[in-house]
Amino acid sequence: MRINRIILIPLLLAIAACSKSADPIKVAKIDKNEYEPQKWAANYPAEYELWEKTKEPTPAGKSFYKKGWDTDGKVYDKLSEFPYMALLFKGWGFGIEYNEPRGHYHMLEDVLEVDPSRRKAGGACLTCKTPYAQQLQQEHGRDYFSKAFDEVHSWIPKNHQKMGVACISCHNGEDASLRLLNDFTLGKALHSIGFDQNKASHQDMRSLVCAQCHVTYVVKKDKDMKSMDVFFPWKNSKYGNIAIEDIIKTIKSDPANLEWTQAVTGFKLGFIRHPEFELFSNQSTHWKAGLSCADCHMPYVRYGSYKVSDHRVVSPLKNSLRACIQCHAQGEDWLRDRIKFTQDRTISLLMRSGYAAAAAAKIFEKLNIAASQGKKIDSALYQKAREYYEQAFYRVVFIGAENSVGFHNPQETMRVLADAAVYASKSEALLRQAAQKAGIELPEKIDLELEKYLSSRGEKKLNFDRSAEFKDPFKTQESF
Ligand code: HEC
Ligand code: HEC
Ligand code: HEC
Ligand code: HEC
Repeated sequence: MRINRIILIPLLLAIAACSKSADPIKVAKIDKNEYEPQKWAANYPAEYELWEKTKEPTPAGKSFYKKGWDTDGKVYDKLSEFPYMALLFKGWGFGIEYNEPRGHYHMLEDVLEVDPSRRKAGGACLTCKTPYAQQLQQEHGRDYFSKAFDEVHSWIPKNHQKMGVACISCHNGEDASLRLLNDFTLGKALHSIGFDQNKASHQDMRSLVCAQCHVTYVVKKDKDMKSMDVFFPWKNSKYGNIAIEDIIKTIKSDPANLEWTQAVTGFKLGFIRHPEFELFSNQSTHWKAGLSCADCHMPYVRYGSYKVSDHRVVSPLKNSLRACIQCHAQGEDWLRDRIKFTQDRTISLLMRSGYAAAAAAKIFEKLNIAASQGKKIDSALYQKAREYYEQAFYRVVFIGAENSVGFHNPQETMRVLADAAVYASKSEALLRQAAQKAGIELPEKIDLELEKYLSSRGEKKLNFDRSAEFKDPFKTQESF
């Protein structure tokens, strides 16, 4: 790897110094907790203007796999891209509509527009969708989590009922220093892993502001399946090493963490959402090299006579890899090629392990039906197969929900997916043994009935032509 180590360190220092080269004149006094971005605009017109650009769609063609919301109006969604997800997630909102992300400006609007089944968890859903979450939770306690989504949403001041990520989400208004707003989630989670946020370095903060939302979380349920809390399942982990094994252990440690029932198998399961911070910070090359999220997603841009952090937060591929070029002398083509290299391998292994988990799920379905018709299924084999299946399931969901398609931590991604594939095939082998013992015949190739899952989504239709669906880039799937 041809990193120019000699220029790297001075460059990093220079970048840091540059940003302060010509501070704009502050004309207004801004309250520490000012929610309205326009008030901030008076002092920080550049950051405001760039932040506002997150409302514009991004050109899908520039990214290999994160097409998102294209300039031509197409919305890319995970169920169309990864049909096995429609099977695995059948039983609740994620199996009906599961879109790729778009700009920060739309964060709250998109929850309002998504299929209502996705808001069933109630106010809890607003946790990383409005900057008011912290305040509402403080004022309303448990009601904030358990009351219906529309009611909790109506507590937000009228003029901000559609406002997404705002300046206050990441900054203190008085001096625009970085600050963590969501104490009831991230604050607690950091405490649970023994990390003192008052001792966080400046570089830590440049990732932690993102970790308020780009992390997985659990919506804890009471016995009537009403939401009672939202927390990050980190308690078995350490800062810089939040691993999937520990997340699974935490989710499985309490039945209240199982949020839904999977239609195909009838199992109560937990779920994993957008774990960008967890994957990136788990000993990735760039984390070890001291990088933060902002280094790649908010590179400095020239604005008039001074430099500012690019507040139009996007995929680096959609930003000409400007962030990378500050450190890597290899040039845009080389960098793009390296990203594709990692992402192709991730997609290949994700497809294989995802379809393997789906096949196991379908066999559970067959055995469950046989059992209901009086067949005797060996329960030891069944339980062991279930444990392996769940281990595969959570790993597949973890990497499928993580938004970098492996790039944030290629080595860890490959490890997690390889384990997923092994768990899924072990589960299938045990299920076949159980079937044979019970005298149930299983075909060699399990019919996943994907069309059934893809087309039973109510009003929601596939967002784009199925021919655009991801294929295994190495075509290994054909041999399965
Ligand atoms: C308050 C919660 C919150 C914070 C803080 C936050 N994000 Fe996001 N981010 C989101 C949500 C939600 C979306 C998806 C929005 C949608 O699809 O409507 C998103 C989308 C994105 C996207 C995709 C943008 C696109 O055009 O497709 C990137 C990249 C991103 N965030 C990076 C970051 C980084 C880096 C940070 C920290 C500097 C950060 N985010 C902080 C909630 C947040
Ligand atoms: C998702 C988190 C996030 C949001 C939202 C956000 N910022 Fe920032 N902002 C950052 C980060 C990270 C930096 C880099 C800070 C550093 O390294 O000291 C930054 C830097 C700044 C700076 C210091 C100068 C610079 O550009 O580096 C100012 C001023 C600023 N932001 C203003 C704003 C304003 C105004 C808004 C709202 C319109 C806003 N920010 C929204 C994360 C955010
Ligand atoms: C070394 C550079 C680098 C670092 C550091 C980094 N990312 Fe990324 N990120 C990328 C690349 C490259 C992609 C893939 C973009 C694509 O495929 O279009 C990506 C993708 C994403 C996406 C999906 C973007 C989209 O358009 O859908 C999100 C969200 C995101 N990163 C958030 C984060 C967060 C949060 C952190 C810190 C915890 C972080 N990133 C750290 C380089 C980086
Ligand atoms: C702040 C500096 C910095 C930025 C920004 C940065 N990198 Fe790196 N990158 C590094 C360092 C340091 C290493 C480790 C080099 C080594 O030890 O050989 C590295 C390693 C890599 C590697 C090899 C990783 C591996 O595991 O083998 C790739 C590929 C890479 N970077 C791509 C990118 C891309 C693409 C971007 C932008 C999205 C980016 N980098 C942004 C500093 C940076």
